[in-house]
Formats: sequence, structure tokens, C-alpha cells
Amino acid sequence: MIFRKSGGETEDILSLPVHIGIIMDGNGRWAKKRGLPRTAGHKAGANNFRTITKYASSIGIKYLTVYAFSTENWTRPETEVSALMKLFKSYLEEALADFMDENIRVRFLGDVSKFNPELQKLIHEVEEASACKTGMVLNLAMNYGGRDDIVHSVRQLAEKVKAGEIEPSDIDEDKINTYLYTEGQPDPDLIIRPSGEQRLSNFLIWQAAYSEFVYFDVLWPDFKKEDLDEAIRIYNARNRRFGGV
Ligand code: IPE
Ligand code: IPE
Ligand code: MG
Repeated sequence: MIFRKSGGETEDILSLPVHIGIIMDGNGRWAKKRGLPRTAGHKAGANNFRTITKYASSIGIKYLTVYAFSTENWTRPETEVSALMKLFKSYLEEALADFMDENIRVRFLGDVSKFNPELQKLIHEVEEASACKTGMVLNLAMNYGGRDDIVHSVRQLAEKVKAGEIEPSDIDEDKINTYLYTEGQPDPDLIIRPSGEQRLSNFLIWQAAYSEFVYFDVLWPDFKKEDLDEAIRIYNARNRRFGGV
């Protein structure tokens, strides 16, 4: 561990990204490599999600956004989608209770109204129950799409224009930010994608304008705490210019 002294104080060796995004990819390939059904990969991925989330919180990350299900993932075979829904349900019931003990606040990014009523109820319960937590904010991007995020924001602004509350010329980046699912949160500093793919796949496309992107040739269920450390090391070696010199 590189961020802490033995006494538990944060050491100033590396600067921690405030907000990390993780595209949890590679579950299917992990299962295939072992001759297992894809759903076994999702289960292993969900367990790892729990491990990495707790670790991120323990080293002092303030915001962690994990991409769990995209707006495009509905196009997968029905059996895979329903297995994922079952997994989400058991995770909301069990693992998130455990996050509460860790003072983690859970929020959901995406249009959760597309989930079944039982899952929606759990989502609202978890959000409410953890609203008072003061530690890391864990964003679960579920039925999330970056394009959908922008459409959802702009539609609300259009309603305000229609109601005469604002003028079209009042619409600027801050206004669009105000109605994104990540409202009030800083943009991700670092986005990590395991599995070897080097693309965003519709993850936080607005918010990622100046994020540092790090990819790993490791499938998500095999992604270790040490890989997160390594991503933070790589992030520290980057020179972020934000368009300046
Ligand atoms: C990511 O793993 C999990 C979800 C998208 C729900 P994949 O299921 O995409 O795994 P690969 O990319 O097929 O290996
Ligand atoms: C991105 O992975 C979505 C999640 C990890 C939830 P995908 O596996 O859906 O992305 P593509 O199809 O490789 O771009
Ligand atoms: Mg994938």
C-alpha cells in the first residue's frame, strides 16, 4: 500500500484522484476462459466490485463511479440480462448493507425507471438509507448511458424554456451539468478500464472531457487492489493541461 503510513495517516507521496470511474468489463471473457457460463463471470465481477469499492474507500477516494450496466446492455440475450438483474438485487440487499457500515453513500446514475419494480424499490431504499453517510460517494451507473445522461439533462432545460423560466441563451455548460445524473459532483479525474478494451462505451462522455484514461489487460474479476494502486501511480505521472500550456 502506497498511500498510507503504518499509523494509518495518508502519506503525501502520491496525489489521490478525487473521483475515479471504473468500467467493470471482462466478466464474460473471464468465465469463458474457465469454461464457465457468462453469468459465473458476472458473479465473480460483483464480488470484486465489493472488494475494490471497500479498498477505494479505505485509501481516501472521495467519489467512485462504477459502470455496472449500460443503456446498450439490454440488447444482450434475455437469460444474461435476467441473471444480471438477479445479481443486482442480491447485491443491493447484502453488499450494500456492508457499505453502510463503511460510511459509504450510494447513489445511482441512469434511468432506473426501466428496472423491475422490486429492484427500483431497493434502489430507493439504499439511496435513502445511505443519504446520511459522510464517507466516499459510490455511484452505481446502472442503465446508464452518457448520451442518455445528456438527453435527460437537455430535456429538463427545454421544459424550463417552455415554461418561460429561462431563455435559450441561459443554457451553458453549468446549466447542463446541473441536470446531469452526476449533479454536484466533480468530474472524474481518472477512468480505468480493465479487459484490454480502449474505449469509453458511452460511460460519462460529457464528464470525461478531461479525465485521464488508463486501461489494463486484466479482466475485471481479476483486477486487484494493486492494479488500482498502479492506476493511481500512472495517473500521478500524467501531465494534465486542460487545454492550457
Ligand atoms: C462487463 O463484462 C459486465 C457488463 C457489461 C454487465 P462483460 O459482460 O461485458 O464481459 P465481456 O466484455 O463480454 O468479457
Ligand atoms: C461497458 O462494457 C459497459 C459496462 C461495463 C457496464 P461493454 O462490454 O458493454 O462494452 P463494449 O460492448 O465492449 O463496448
Ligand atoms: Mg464487455
